[in-house]
Amino acid sequence: MSTTADQSSGVIARYRNFLPINENTPIISLGEGNTPLIYSSRLSERVGNGCEVFIKNEGVNPTGSFKDRGMTVAVSKAIERGARALICASTGNTSASAAAYAARAGIPCAVILPAGKIASGKLLQAFAHGAKIVAIDGNFDDALRIVRELGERDFAIVNSINPDRIAGQKTAAFEIVDLLGGAPDFHLLPVGNAGNITAYWAGYREYQKREKLKTLPVMIGFQAAGAAPIFHNRIIEKPETVASAIRIGNPASWKQARGAIEESHGAIDIVTDEEILEAQLWLARNEGLFVEPASAASIAGLFKWSDKIPERRRVVCTVTGHGLKDPEPFRDKIDSVQPVEAKIDNILRTIGF
Ligand code: F0G
Repeated sequence: MSTTADQSSGVIARYRNFLPINENTPIISLGEGNTPLIYSSRLSERVGNGCEVFIKNEGVNPTGSFKDRGMTVAVSKAIERGARALICASTGNTSASAAAYAARAGIPCAVILPAGKIASGKLLQAFAHGAKIVAIDGNFDDALRIVRELGERDFAIVNSINPDRIAGQKTAAFEIVDLLGGAPDFHLLPVGNAGNITAYWAGYREYQKREKLKTLPVMIGFQAAGAAPIFHNRIIEKPETVASAIRIGNPASWKQARGAIEESHGAIDIVTDEEILEAQLWLARNEGLFVEPASAASIAGLFKWSDKIPERRRVVCTVTGHGLKDPEPFRDKIDSVQPVEAKIDNILRTIGF
């Protein structure tokens, strides 16, 4: 099933020796990973104190989010084990990624989603790739509970409770270390179901064991203020935030995330919806990077933490998904565009500069 092209790019091709792949694993890849690590002079300036800030832009993965790194491994392993169908619960990105990799593998995929809570671009992706979409009257946490039950039947679960997903997602940490020649001092990222913070930490730890880095980063995770179970140390029954990707009240990898934070002497903090949207716009306007609201939580977090970062530290912020997935925060702006008469004078007046 796999071809030479599948084996020459993608995270399995680059990091095969660090992944649970053997000669019988068919490689299902869309050329994920190898995403840019962008030095940001403006963010570095905002933090000040001689700090250097880099943005790991995961929105340029094949389906527009970091999920593809884990999905290539999870789907390849599922096919190796003879799975006949994939299933996942999702706030949107996992379902988009699962649907695409299922299409590539040639097997059906069912996605269980909280009704009315998925950003339109992500739902569109799941439709386009031919997934069976089931919207439930409940939130992500309810959807994941159902998926766990269905996983005991004939479905291969491709949520991050599947260790193959975490294994694939570790590769983002490898790429950062390979490029910087060591780990950053601080790593900031959004936290929802807490798989990604778990995966990054596992990646850094594995590279430390293999003597590819000397020091480990301090991991700082950011939850949305209205969906912050780890921060408050209690399940949130009705999580609410504009950042729909991280609208999660009972994260599956809660314990592992706590472990990563404690072992790295890091922290979990919250950012408000207002701070998230402000950071999203700031990044789009000052760096040319358009990310979805959940992704901007790491940038909002950096703004909140800039005074707490000691001087001359290297900081990486992961932005997790592409802004095109979720047009909603810009709906008013899109709707407010009015046509003007196609005459130079009118047009110059409208431009205004
Ligand atoms: N950012 C984006 C864009 C996401 O889609 C997610 C999670 C996260 C951050 C948080 O990552 O869950 O590993 O802590 N999205 C999942 C989904 C839950 O179903 O697409 P996490």
